[in-house]
Amino acid sequence: MGQPSSLLIVAIDGGAASGKSSTARSLAACFPLLHVDTGAHYRAITAEMLRRGVAYSDPAAVASALQQFTLGTRVSGSAAALEINGRIPGDEIRSPEVNTAVSHFAALPSVRSTLLHYQRAQADVAQKHGFRGLVMEGRDIGSVIFPDADLRFFLHADPGERARRRAEQGQQDSVAERDRLDSSRKTAPLTIPAGAIAIDSTHLTLEEVVSKVAALVEEKLAKHSR
Ligand code: DC
Repeated sequence: MGQPSSLLIVAIDGGAASGKSSTARSLAACFPLLHVDTGAHYRAITAEMLRRGVAYSDPAAVASALQQFTLGTRVSGSAAALEINGRIPGDEIRSPEVNTAVSHFAALPSVRSTLLHYQRAQADVAQKHGFRGLVMEGRDIGSVIFPDADLRFFLHADPGERARRRAEQGQQDSVAERDRLDSSRKTAPLTIPAGAIAIDSTHLTLEEVVSKVAALVEEKLAKHSR
């Protein structure tokens, strides 16, 4: 699986606005872990496809556009960002257009297999930059990308609470519709991986979620060989 044994891999999966990003970012601020947001990868690919006028309804055009992408990684602080042909897509990855299209692009096998290889290789990036491990968030991290991760978490929250969180961030996003598409696709659907630690964050503050997760990460890091 290409997972260097000395690295601690923490997988955080969950639906839209379940608190994954805030939790993963806080963990990377507390521990020497590289933060990889795989939702941002799907969003960056979607933004670049939209920019080039490539439609998700034309899988052959998507596959051929992917051939023209050289993917790279820029690490700044404890965060890794995806570069496409040397460029990191900006705020457009959170636009309403990308919110609407991203689940459709993410359902295409060509997009998923491109990102599967790229995401597994993030373990090498973490090692090269001297991190003790990585915290990767997404939908299929504990089920497909790193099924042997040292810790696998699944965050969930009531749909009403998740819609409220997105609105509070000033974002126009149909979280329930994206979850429906992400859970029903054939390739790597959003699912609770067997053996993952499920946390319902509906009635928890971010600090409460982070402290539950951080306690387990600290314990694992203490045991983990360098
Ligand atoms: O985490 P997010 O809401 O930024 O993710 C955006 C979309 O990307 C999400 O609706 C589905 C897709 N995604 C995916 O299919 N697999 C992942 N590992 C991460 C995100």
